[in-house]
Amino acid sequence: MRYSPGKVLILMIFVIFLVQTFYNKFFNYSVSYTVPDNVWRRIALQHKDLYGEPPIQNESTDLRIIVMVYNRADSLSRLIKSLNEALYFGERVVLDIWIDRSKDGQIDENTYRIASEFQFKHGVKIVHNHTFHVGIYGQWLNTWTPKSNSSEIAVILEDDLTVSPYFYRWLKIVHKKYDKLVEVNGYSLQGISIKHGIGSEGLLEAPFEDVVFLYPVIGTWGFSPNRRNWVKFRDWLEVILHDDKFQPLVPNILPTSWYQAFIQTGKTEGMWSMWHIYHAWKTREFTLYPNFAGHLGLTVNWKESGLHYGPGLSQESKNPSNNLVTTWRAGYENLPENPIRLDVYGNIDAVEDP
Ligand SMILES: *[C@@H]1O[C@H](CO)[C@@H](O)[C@H](O)[C@H]1NC(C)=O
Ligand SMILES: *[C@@H]1O[C@H](CO)[C@@H](O)[C@H](O)[C@H]1NC(C)=O
Ligand SMILES: *[C@@H]1O[C@H](CO)[C@@H](O)[C@H](O)[C@H]1NC(C)=O
Ligand SMILES: *[C@@H]1O[C@H](CO)[C@@H](O)[C@H](O)[C@H]1NC(C)=O
Repeated sequence: MRYSPGKVLILMIFVIFLVQTFYNKFFNYSVSYTVPDNVWRRIALQHKDLYGEPPIQNESTDLRIIVMVYNRADSLSRLIKSLNEALYFGERVVLDIWIDRSKDGQIDENTYRIASEFQFKHGVKIVHNHTFHVGIYGQWLNTWTPKSNSSEIAVILEDDLTVSPYFYRWLKIVHKKYDKLVEVNGYSLQGISIKHGIGSEGLLEAPFEDVVFLYPVIGTWGFSPNRRNWVKFRDWLEVILHDDKFQPLVPNILPTSWYQAFIQTGKTEGMWSMWHIYHAWKTREFTLYPNFAGHLGLTVNWKESGLHYGPGLSQESKNPSNNLVTTWRAGYENLPENPIRLDVYGNIDAVEDP
């Protein structure tokens, strides 16, 4: 058989066609993982109460621990082990483990096995398969649906964290002290945070003598909402999402520029927190952070690749974020009536009199 230039050309066209078909298939598959902004909103709104059926949370409890996971079985295992080692003072605890589905509806079997075989020593454990792919939005926004008279404390944990044995002790005292303050929308457990103002550098540093401070931007490495504010926030979100044109942009902060980049690339799906930041800004709410010496935290973040951190991270940045509180100090309970406020540049913000 002779290879005439004509045959070679036809063969080449065929090969190009094949390559292009595979490329398209792959390319379209990967873009399908990033839903354009207005598309996920519409999907969200098609479902009752934002993201599918809200869970029935009728077990009466003192503490509800909400763990969210998709397919990182090892991370889940590390987190729930730390939950078993924490102190709960004999109080009632419910551990809800929420497993998301892939876009084509699969539950990761290994993750499910770790969750279902885990023996929680301190209370009731419930493993929930989400009924469809809800993503990070659904995981955060539709896993705690407290009744208006509920007094339970909830804490929402992504799977790449571990907790300090004292995290519940901390939550009890800060909720008791500050839930009554309308401007406190919740309690972050992390010991470290960047400054979010554009042009600012370094970490937030509050004065040594202040055990806590208020800050305009939520910290998501372990967050325990103030129930009243959380309900208000979810109600607001359900209304605002109907406005396709609305974008939650807050002037002069880094998260806004990240979010704007995500709008361009169709990845806003990964940043639910922008809505919380916007709502807090609009309503002048703040999140309370601990300020322990050495940036000790009630959680540590292992910064693994996943929804927030891409696989391209250097080894150094995979180190844990900070050290955990492993010894309880009496000073931690020295809570001021009115915590100081830091602004997004890390400066102490004068609190004007009402
Ligand atoms: C991939 O998407 C492009 C642009 O939307 C479209 O023209 C093409 O037909 C798609 N390819 C496949 C294999 O679905
Ligand atoms: C909570 O609701 C579920 C489903 O309706 C029911 O099976 C369960 O018995 C209820 N638990 C309590 C404590 O009421
Ligand atoms: C959840 O998913 C796992 C893994 O696919 C399955 O074995 C289990 O039966 C599911 N549970 C429920 C309640 O659907
Ligand atoms: C909350 O209200 C429901 C019904 O309105 C009632 O059954 C329940 O006992 C109340 N719970 C508390 C803690 O007051």
